[in-house]
Amino acid sequence: MTGPFDHLTSIRGQVAIVTGGTAGIGGACTERFAREGATAIAIGRDPAKGEALIGKLRAEGHDAHFFACDCVEEDQMAETSAAILERWGRADILCNIAGGWIEAPPIEEVTNEALHHSFDWNVTSKFLITKALVPAMKANKYGRIVNMSSSTGRRGRVAAALQYSTMEAGVLGFTRVLAMQLAPHGITVNAICPGTTLTPRAQRHSEERLAATAAAIPVQRLGTVDEQAHAIWYLCTPGAAFTTGAILDVNGGNWTG
Ligand SMILES: NC(=O)c1ccc[n+]([C@@H]2O[C@H](COP(=O)([O-])OP(=O)(O)OC[C@H]3O[C@@H](n4cnc5c(N)ncnc54)[C@H](OP(=O)(O)O)[C@@H]3O)[C@@H](O)[C@H]2O)c1
Repeated sequence: MTGPFDHLTSIRGQVAIVTGGTAGIGGACTERFAREGATAIAIGRDPAKGEALIGKLRAEGHDAHFFACDCVEEDQMAETSAAILERWGRADILCNIAGGWIEAPPIEEVTNEALHHSFDWNVTSKFLITKALVPAMKANKYGRIVNMSSSTGRRGRVAAALQYSTMEAGVLGFTRVLAMQLAPHGITVNAICPGTTLTPRAQRHSEERLAATAAAIPVQRLGTVDEQAHAIWYLCTPGAAFTTGAILDVNGGNWTG
């Protein structure tokens, strides 16, 4: 099916890679890209999760693939990036979604190890694969990179994890400078800052806590993974060529700058 705006919106036939692409927001991105007709490649650590998602998408007739890889491990990431480029020869879309946080202790209890772990999980995971795939994007004079940050990287919040908030702010710096470096090559680099979104990770919190969080959001509910994937999809379309170095807040109006 073709439409009058396909030149702006269609990612059909493109190679789209999603780190952390087997569940939650990343999983929704993999599903969206596959259903938009792209070759959707999900990267995650747990093969069972990845194969279940890819199996579902293939059963629907989509072109979906999974690579088991820990995005913070340099060797694994190099091997996976090389395998992707060897098989498909290009990378049109890269969504760096892998990351997260576990606990939010006061500073006296944040160890150096926890700080470095957060850096690796949220920053190194984006740096390694981006560095590996940018040469192919440059050769093709085209690319769309979206980096996952968080509303926690934009503002202070009492309940936020100190180390995670620090790294998510770092992702914004990475995004801004990379956007400027890559703009002459037809490659855009943007960041997305979700507010609390119902994912497997968020669902670990108690119902009371999630209800209180939802009540504090102007739209009076939590975000959905499809809403986050929809915003990310826009940043990955050909028509978003003039949107680069941007930070897109998708948070139900919870923080407006
Ligand atoms: N949910 C929210 O409210 C929210 C808000 C703002 C920002 N975010 C950010 O959005 C991202 C996704 O969050 P989510 O809530 O959707 O998380 P989630 O439900 O825990 O899903 C995370 C996904 O990433 C994969 N993953 C995690 N670490 C990885 C690694 N080192 N290498 C490869 N894959 C990895 C997981 O699979 P495996 O475990 O099998 O590897 C899973 O597929 C995170 O960066 C998070 O910080 C989330």
